[in-house]
Amino acid sequence: MRTTIFAIIVLAFGFPTDTYAQQQPTLKDAYKGCFLVGAALNPAQFSGEDPREEALVKSQFNTISPENVLKWEVVHPHPGTYDFSLADKYVEFGQLNHMFVIGHNLVWHSQVPQWVFEDENHNPVGRKVLLKRMRDHIHKVVGRYKGRIKGWDVVNEALNEDGTLRQSGWIKIIGDDYIEKAFRYAREADPQAQLYYNDYSLENEAKRKGALELVSKLKAKGVPITGVGLQDHVQMDWPTADQIDATITEFGKLGVKVMITELDVDVLPAATPSGTADASLSVASDPKLNPYPNGLPEPVQQELSKRYADLFGTYGKHCGLVSRVTFWGVTDKESWKNNWPVKGRTNYPLLFNRDAEPKPAFGSVIQAVPKSVS
Ligand code: G3I
Repeated sequence: MRTTIFAIIVLAFGFPTDTYAQQQPTLKDAYKGCFLVGAALNPAQFSGEDPREEALVKSQFNTISPENVLKWEVVHPHPGTYDFSLADKYVEFGQLNHMFVIGHNLVWHSQVPQWVFEDENHNPVGRKVLLKRMRDHIHKVVGRYKGRIKGWDVVNEALNEDGTLRQSGWIKIIGDDYIEKAFRYAREADPQAQLYYNDYSLENEAKRKGALELVSKLKAKGVPITGVGLQDHVQMDWPTADQIDATITEFGKLGVKVMITELDVDVLPAATPSGTADASLSVASDPKLNPYPNGLPEPVQQELSKRYADLFGTYGKHCGLVSRVTFWGVTDKESWKNNWPVKGRTNYPLLFNRDAEPKPAFGSVIQAVPKSVS
């Protein structure tokens, strides 16, 4: 019914305006009964600095993720020194607004200070020391927010594109079982929290196979993993709806929840291989890679809407198995995609424009709500 009314409004008046946004169902309401809809937040959006975006977050989303404030380098920058000032505000904001609060992340090769892997003479520490550091960190951070952070990205991006395990500082010192240990420590620290493995480009066959094997092995050993996060930093033509569909289905067969954890759509020319979201990559600026500095041309805007409709059409086929869809950011203005892998581009990856107004893609997402839930 809601979908029909929406279609009539679009036909009669065209796509969104300010008033339109106020009249439309919100993302969280439209997908109630299917999955939670969320966004990754930066401090301005939960600390009162940006009231407009804060209001947008409160109205549209029922789950939040911390874009950076819970990463190791932020909360635990030096040995024995923890700084929870921003993380506390983030969690309070989520609780006050009755949101499903996500923790991101505990064990990752990136945004973790070098001291974690070294002794005071800058020599690598041994397995026992690193396991103790990992356990202490997980207990301190997860323990602080026990019962309040409902789901944790416990291990982030542990796989290479060919599906093998990434040779990070963690694996080199501890061995392959660092993953299992991280999950077990997180479970000790919060017996109720959902615990996830989170990665990008799991739609590519080799990496998907590696991830399926990893999760199967963890499950077979009784490791407490409750879900898998497909990041979905996607492009206009990668991955296909079929690839996404198959990926969700395959993980579902393993009996884990599936979440879309970091959704955005890159409309700019690709400067890296399909699917990578490796934050360490950097490509030199070139005007050819930044074709829309003054606004997105209408045909591309429409293509983006179509892409979002297809994505949500696919996610919506798996209501329930897909328990959450989280955008990696709120508006185009502060998206990481403006600075990665090329610094200073003007990108348009999200549903809200630089003035925090809904883009046509917002309407497409609302329209894509499965008939069984609308
Ligand atoms: O905080 C410093 C600030 O003090 C300094 O002035 C400024 C100068 O560049 O940098 C600031 O740090 C930046 C940080 O974001 C906070 O804004 C880092 O340079 C920048 O590299 C960092 O980027 C983050 C990236 O992870 C780092 O790995 C992005 O915001 C964040 O969106 C991105 O998120 C990751 C997920 O955690 C995991 N999956 C992939 C995703 C995209 O890379």
